[in-house]
Amino acid sequence: MKSIHLIAGARPNFMKVAPLWHALNKETWCKPVLVHTGQHYDAMMSDVFFSDLGLPAPDFHLGVGSGSHAQQTAAVMTAYEELCRQTAPDNVVVVGDVNSTMACAIAAKKLHLQVSHLEAGLRSFDRTMPEEINRLLTDAISDLLWTPSPDADENLAREGIPASRIDRVGNIMIDSLVMMQGAIEKAEIAKRLGLEKKNYGVVTLHRPINVDTVDALDAALSAIIEVSSSLPLVFPMHPRTKARVEEFGLTKKLQQAATVKVCSPLGYVDFMSLLSDCALVITDSGGIQEETCYLGIPCITVRESTERPVTVASGSNRLAQMTDLTNLAPQVVSAWKSGHAGRTIPDRWDGKTADRIVASLKRALS
Ligand code: UD1
Repeated sequence: MKSIHLIAGARPNFMKVAPLWHALNKETWCKPVLVHTGQHYDAMMSDVFFSDLGLPAPDFHLGVGSGSHAQQTAAVMTAYEELCRQTAPDNVVVVGDVNSTMACAIAAKKLHLQVSHLEAGLRSFDRTMPEEINRLLTDAISDLLWTPSPDADENLAREGIPASRIDRVGNIMIDSLVMMQGAIEKAEIAKRLGLEKKNYGVVTLHRPINVDTVDALDAALSAIIEVSSSLPLVFPMHPRTKARVEEFGLTKKLQQAATVKVCSPLGYVDFMSLLSDCALVITDSGGIQEETCYLGIPCITVRESTERPVTVASGSNRLAQMTDLTNLAPQVVSAWKSGHAGRTIPDRWDGKTADRIVASLKRALS
């Protein structure tokens, strides 16, 4: 029986690991072992995703918590190296681009273990983003590179990675959406929040570049408040952003904006319900660019670059500066409402990515 570690550390990892855990758990030749690094630890950033996505409690919890990048990465590496020595997994699956992804890949590879990277090959070409460093390093050392889109294959080829290590399996996040569709449709969070379907926007912001300086965050909040005068907004606030809003004395500014509803981070099902019924999303998240692409919801990504250009090509996503938001957002909403904007769902974003990964793993381990 092959033992496969599935590493999850931070919020965007849980919905990538869940479909794979479910698919592997049905197999008789292997056993999925869920490892939670503890990078995210608040109930609404972590536990709720386990219950929403039908995941069991992690087999191992490394409990690393927060810290500087080096501290957090080092803590994950130290704890995970020890776990690898004790358990000797046959394959270590790391997902996405968070610090836990890179840390576990390095720790496992230095023990000569087989490592697979799910969501390989994405590049923003912006090395000031911590996630870009995590992507580059993880891809450079992983044995199996599972990509979501052709641009990812091309990025890896350009970096000299042999085609034999690259397998385009599709987008695993769409598996979660498909798997949870029934629950998402029933959740009706818009109703519970007193919002009219297709008549509100959703905001999420947490990237250091947008929230870690007073000038950037103040400008972002001003733009959001202005947009909210034409479209009411809901803002489930990431703990990093909440901490900065308080630290920079911006709490009152937000409280005075009656058309911006700030709430705590939401669980997976509630958040997907909120997205499915909204008119527009303003975000700096990576995953939300993909989820809106699949759902056909217009997304404005407040970043200078995206590692997910396929969402722009497909017609759902566009990049904008914070300063452009107040002009852009109302135009996007009205274009979509009048039915002008089309979108296409990228190839292999079909809910069957986990099955393709199981087949790939079986080949690699036989
Ligand atoms: C991390 C990922 C980012 C991902 C994001 C999604 C890295 C480098 N970044 O960013 O790619 O998009 O998660 O959420 O790995 N905190 C809490 N409670 C928690 C978790 C964090 O209060 O459960 C606080 C921490 O104290 C810290 C801040 O949030 O101050 C940032 O957490 P961290 O994990 O370092 O990075 P994120 O900004 O969440």
